[in-house]
Amino acid sequence: MKIIAYGIRDDERPYVDEWAQSQGIEVKATGELLTEDTVDQAAGFDGAVVYQQKPYTATVIDRLAELGVKNMSLRNVGVDNVDAEAVKRTGLRVTNVPAYSPAAIAEFTVTELMRLLRHTKQFERRQAKGDLRWAPDIATELNTLTVGVIATGRIGRAAIQIYQGFGAKVVAYDVFKNPELEKTGMYVDTLDELYAQADVISLHAPATKENYHMLNAAAFSKMKDGVIILNPARGDLLDTDDLIAALDSGKVGGAALDVYEGEVGIFNADFGQFDAIPDDRLKRLMSRDNVLVSPHIAFYTKTAVRNMVQFALNNNRQLIETGTADNVVSFD
Ligand code: COI
Repeated sequence: MKIIAYGIRDDERPYVDEWAQSQGIEVKATGELLTEDTVDQAAGFDGAVVYQQKPYTATVIDRLAELGVKNMSLRNVGVDNVDAEAVKRTGLRVTNVPAYSPAAIAEFTVTELMRLLRHTKQFERRQAKGDLRWAPDIATELNTLTVGVIATGRIGRAAIQIYQGFGAKVVAYDVFKNPELEKTGMYVDTLDELYAQADVISLHAPATKENYHMLNAAAFSKMKDGVIILNPARGDLLDTDDLIAALDSGKVGGAALDVYEGEVGIFNADFGQFDAIPDDRLKRLMSRDNVLVSPHIAFYTKTAVRNMVQFALNNNRQLIETGTADNVVSFD
C-alpha cells in the first residue's frame, strides 16, 4: 500500500513520519497542494491524503479517477471546497476528520469572547502608549449573559460546556437536535427566537448552499442591540458588508472572526507589514477596537494537528483495505 500526502506543512511532517513508521506503510509527503499541476504525482498511489483551502476542482477529481486513485482523505472537517458533482460522477471515495479536536475550536471561541468582554484589545493598545487607566473599558461578566449557540454538533456542544462552566445561560438552535441536549430544554425552535434572546451568537454550522450569508442585515435586525458575534466556522456564513454596517450602527457591539469570506490566499501568509495585507475591508475590520480577527487558527493546536494527520491516514488506509471507512462523506 502506498499513500501520497499533499500539502504537508512542517508542523505536520513529524506526525506523518510517526504514523508511517508505526504502521509500516509507505507515505510520500509533499508540501505541494493537490492542483491540476500536481495531481499526476498521485500516479501509482492507492490513496491521497489532503488538506487545503483551495478548491478540489472537477478537473483534479477527474484526473485522480483517470489515474486509478479511488480514495481521498481530507485532514480537516469542512468539505465545502470539494466539487460534489465530480465526486459523485467519478465515485471517488472521500473521508474527512469530523472530530480532530472539537475542544480546540471551542476553547478558542470562548477565549475570543472573553477578550471582547474584557476589552483586552483596547487596554493593550492604550498600554502600548503608556496609558494605564481603567475607564472607559469596564467589562461585562459572561455569567450575566445568554449565549445563543447555532449548530450543536461536536464543536457547538464543546462550546456549550465551556459557556456553562462560566455560568452563562445557553440557548441553542439546530435542525438536528442532539437528544442529550434536548433533555435540558436548551433548544429554541427557530433562529428568530435565538436572535431575540442571545447577548452573544456563537456560530458553529458547516457552510452549505442553503446557509450562505445566514448572518446578514435581516438577521442582525432581529438581534439584541450590542450583540456579540463569534464566527469560528466559515466566512461564507456571514455577510461581511452587513456586519460592518451593523458594527457602524452599534447594532453589533463586537465580533470575533477566525474566518473571513475572502481568506483563501490571505490567512496563513506573511505580507511583511500590515499595510501590505491585500484586502482593505479586512484591514479596516482588523483596525477596529471591538473586532478581533484571527487567521483561522482556532483549530491550530498540537492535539488537533496530530489527530488531523493521523486520523486522515487511518481513514485512507481503511478505504484502501476495505473500500469504506468510518468517516466517508456523502455528497448526496
Ligand atoms: C476545518 O477543519 O474544516 C477547519 O476549518 C480547520 C482548517 C483550517 C484546518
